Amino acid sequence: MSTCCIHPSILSADFVNLQSELERIATADAVHVDVMDNSFVPNLTLGLPVVKRIQAVAPVPLDIHLMINDADRWAPEYAAVGAASVTFHAEAAQAPIRLARELRSVGARAGMALRPATAVEPYLDMLGELDMLLIMTVEPGFGGQSFLDVTLPKIRRAAEAVRGADLPVAIQVDGGITEETIVRAAEAGATVFVAGSSVYGADDPAAAIAALRRAAS
Ligand code: DX5
Ligand code: ZN
Repeated sequence: MSTCCIHPSILSADFVNLQSELERIATADAVHVDVMDNSFVPNLTLGLPVVKRIQAVAPVPLDIHLMINDADRWAPEYAAVGAASVTFHAEAAQAPIRLARELRSVGARAGMALRPATAVEPYLDMLGELDMLLIMTVEPGFGGQSFLDVTLPKIRRAAEAVRGADLPVAIQVDGGITEETIVRAAEAGATVFVAGSSVYGADDPAAAIAALRRAAS
């Protein structure tokens, strides 16, 4: 699968000016929306009412990353908002296959995320149920952390499994993605790249998106 997708994370945006912050990344492939519940991760961000408004004004599709417990209960509600993709954490889902099917039935792409220390192997047989596998490249919870190179072999194994089964599953990476680390992630087989601080921390987010795109390919 070819590399394509840069998804800036609004976690590093100015939350008081979300609409104009979304306009600054209009050249991206999607906007990554980090939902945190201060339980699955030690941080709290935003929930359904805000996501509904983001969906209404965003110039690009929504890629929602749920870092919440009780994913089975809440993920379908985020899909119903009209998000292009909804990603739940494997560690937070009771019935990941049922949940992935439910997300697809609502019209969203189904994504499943793995924390850095969660092995991919137990999930390889369910790849066909997913549109995207998110391999966290930092411990989830905060933006601005350093890329964990220890996750590279897992990205490689996941990409090999996807290729081996000839499945259209995107491999997303999230955390510490910069012009430098994106090269290693892409080489390992990642195809969708989330970038928070390296896009919103730049003077010109559109230029940062273009630079990441170039580096990934
Ligand atoms: C972290 C979030 C990420 C975060 C990435 O738990 O899931 O999406 O915004 O931020 P950077 O790119 O700054 O590591
Ligand atoms: Zn994220």
